[in-house]
Amino acid sequence: MPYEHVGSVTQELRQSLEAEHARQDQSLMMIASENIASPAVREAQGSMLTNRNVLGYPDSRLYPGADSMDAIESFAIQCATNLWGADHVNVQPHSGSLANLAVYLAVLDPGDSILALDPRDGGHITHGDDRHISSDLYETSYYHVDPTTGQLDYEAIADRAEAVDPDLIISGYSAYPGEIDWPRFQTIADAVDAVHLADIAHIAGIIAADEYPSPVAHADFCTGSTYKTIRGGRGGFILCDQQYADAVDTALFPYLQGGAALPNMAGKAVGFAEALRPEFQTYIKRTVTSAKALAIRLSESGINIVSNGTETHIVVIDLQTSHPDLAGSEAERALEDARIIANKITVPADPRHPSGASGIRFGTSCLVSRGFGPEEMEYVADLIVRALNAASDPEERDQIVQDVEALCDQYPISDTGA
Ligand SMILES: Cc1ncc(COP(=O)(O)O)c(C=O)c1O
Repeated sequence: MPYEHVGSVTQELRQSLEAEHARQDQSLMMIASENIASPAVREAQGSMLTNRNVLGYPDSRLYPGADSMDAIESFAIQCATNLWGADHVNVQPHSGSLANLAVYLAVLDPGDSILALDPRDGGHITHGDDRHISSDLYETSYYHVDPTTGQLDYEAIADRAEAVDPDLIISGYSAYPGEIDWPRFQTIADAVDAVHLADIAHIAGIIAADEYPSPVAHADFCTGSTYKTIRGGRGGFILCDQQYADAVDTALFPYLQGGAALPNMAGKAVGFAEALRPEFQTYIKRTVTSAKALAIRLSESGINIVSNGTETHIVVIDLQTSHPDLAGSEAERALEDARIIANKITVPADPRHPSGASGIRFGTSCLVSRGFGPEEMEYVADLIVRALNAASDPEERDQIVQDVEALCDQYPISDTGA
């Protein structure tokens, strides 16, 4: 029986776990930052490693008895090296957010300056946003995407870098569907003598599968999460040039974090090993072609696609033309009521406050992990359009829920392998 041991301690929690299992199974999970970890990843994460507290790095631990831990961490590092080809890899960050902070602590002094993409244009909160600790430690300036194309304007970014003279430039985003010109970013950073961090939290899996250009040979640092397009469960990682290895390792431990989250590290190791198999490349190709199919079908239905398409797993729609009276927050609710889970997001030059926003961000990672492909995604696009049009039509919404359930039944989440 699922969650038997939890149930023997607390039925309340067991019910919540079962409810979440059912929710994932019976809804279209399209949060772009999520994925479905394989049974192997989940097994590693639920292992006996949770009993251990290990401080330090392989072969230089602070406590004895860490041989297996050294083997697991070294294996994860080796797999990551094979995936991304970096000089130095750190697999201990508890999250992508802490990976970013460790890089800042490694190369910046308090009062130094960061140049990053405005979160309202798709940047991430950890890139100096005033709700994040980085804004207390460093001065942040933003660059923007072109408000009409939704794409990065490298001339404008170079001008901004010249004007701001930052110590660190960040590329890599939360909601940018297009391709990023990493060498161009490195040139911009070099011209102002800034360190360049490429935050590949979202696209790490796509890069690993060679379906998106890699920043590794260009940027000084790459950081990422391990539970998005790469399916290693919760956690983060850092890739960098050898010259920064000691600085980043000591910034992460002991300055920022304590003991390694070993079950998560084992999950990363399994997820990375899975990503080295040819099946993963097929999965990633399908994830991207599915996102393209989704964008095309939504566009054919009259919905404006930010950046005019996608090169990743992300599709961002701008509702201002097709649904002028529907704020992103209302659209998010209408979709959720129809069991389509995706989040509101601001679009370039959004006239609405971020709490309402004018866009919705979709991701295809989870659906493709459970077996969907481009054909199903066209049908999903139709369900999305119906749900947006039915924001105040409960009868149609009930019909959509039935259609979503029927689709989900064809691809049960429990059958998801990797
Ligand atoms: C670009 C970017 N960086 C960092 C993060 C932080 O990831 P985590 O949840 O692993 O802290 C995210 C999260 O979605 C992200 O989109």
